[in-house]
Amino acid sequence: MNSPFGTIVSSNITPDKRHGIGNYSYDDFARALRKGVAPGGKRLYPAMPYPAFAKITDDDMRALYAYMMQGVPPVSSVPPPTRVPFPFNQRWALGIWNWFFAPSGAYKLRADRDAEWNRGAYLVQSLGHCGSCHTPRGAGYQERGYDESSKHYLAGGINDNWYAPNLRADPGSGLGRVGRDEIASFLRTGHGGGMVTFGSMVQTVEDSLQYLNDDDLRAIAAYLKCLPAAGTADGRFDPPRTDRAAPALKTRAPDVPPVTGAAVYASFCAECHRPQGEGVADAFPRLAGNPSVISEDTTSLIRLLVEGGNSPATRHGPPRQAMPAFAETLTDVQIAQVLTYVRASWGNDARPVTTNDVSSLRSKLHK
Ligand code: HEC
Ligand code: HEC
Repeated sequence: MNSPFGTIVSSNITPDKRHGIGNYSYDDFARALRKGVAPGGKRLYPAMPYPAFAKITDDDMRALYAYMMQGVPPVSSVPPPTRVPFPFNQRWALGIWNWFFAPSGAYKLRADRDAEWNRGAYLVQSLGHCGSCHTPRGAGYQERGYDESSKHYLAGGINDNWYAPNLRADPGSGLGRVGRDEIASFLRTGHGGGMVTFGSMVQTVEDSLQYLNDDDLRAIAAYLKCLPAAGTADGRFDPPRTDRAAPALKTRAPDVPPVTGAAVYASFCAECHRPQGEGVADAFPRLAGNPSVISEDTTSLIRLLVEGGNSPATRHGPPRQAMPAFAETLTDVQIAQVLTYVRASWGNDARPVTTNDVSSLRSKLHK
């Protein structure tokens, strides 16, 4: 994983006795997950989401330990070492970080909320660790809030060069216009409300969320729908009315004539995303009114255009589809133009993407 400290390599967590966690007692396991301290006192980087796992109940922790020890085959391999520069290689200092930043203690039921809300809150805050990608981070790399008591909680964050959008009720790029069933379906299949998951969320859906049962998915959706809007800078969506002419472009970068963006769109995108950005159900995402298309942060949009991507393949969802990579086909100027066009058409109204946004992300990604 890329982090501001350098690249952090995840550990072998199979029950292999030499290279994995085969010698962990239950207490060792629970301490590593909840406090980020491995046997022998080695401190784990908070890239491992122990501030979220601190909230896992004892019953769930015991079940997880039993599965890891008995259900996962041991693999005898040694991942490459994590090499981060001084001072971040001083793992002892993470003890101080924890003292300042990491919350501790199990999830506390809220008596003023019903059982479904509490179930959703528990899953989102603990095992789901949704905040480790979706909550913005502060100066100390800590998440700015670990539950609904913070207005920054799940308001959108960057992790590993993907922007995970705002999951609060904001009407533009948040989930304000997305219904509960659509959210549940999105989490289960990666498709919902015309959105198709991409980036690091594909793995989250494929490896994890698709296996949740319907009650848990609905509980998560119910909890998210109760989070009030963050009120941060946000793109807007005004659905075009059929009785009036197509609205004129409202936002435009000074260096980007919209007509060029339209031409790039017609040649390279419309085939799948359709001329009016309406997408194709169960295959290609809708771009008109899509919250992640009009988000303030454009990291994920630029990265997806440069690298391309695949929609998830799940047990209950439609088959995988590919979005091509445009790194070789389009210049930085054209990528900025087409994204600016997409973000200002069919009722979308979000700030333009500049050529500089594109080139600086590409140099970060070395692509
Ligand atoms: C590894 C990082 C990561 C984790 C963990 C993660 N997400 Fe995401 N999520 C993303 C990224 C990146 C996107 C943007 C791409 C997309 O829309 O699929 C996203 C998108 C979403 C969207 C669509 C929002 C929109 O406006 O398009 C929803 C809903 C969502 N995530 C819910 C969750 C929930 C609930 C959890 C926890 C159970 C979670 N995510 C955990 C990275 C993550
Ligand atoms: C061959 C079909 C195809 C073409 C051509 C294509 N896309 Fe896509 N696009 C997809 C698929 C499939 C996804 C979902 C990708 C994923 O899950 O990783 C996607 C996702 C997206 C998204 C993210 C929206 C979301 O909610 O998933 C944006 C933005 C986007 N495409 C823009 C473009 C632009 C701009 C172009 C032209 C330069 C383009 N696409 C060309 C198939 C295509």
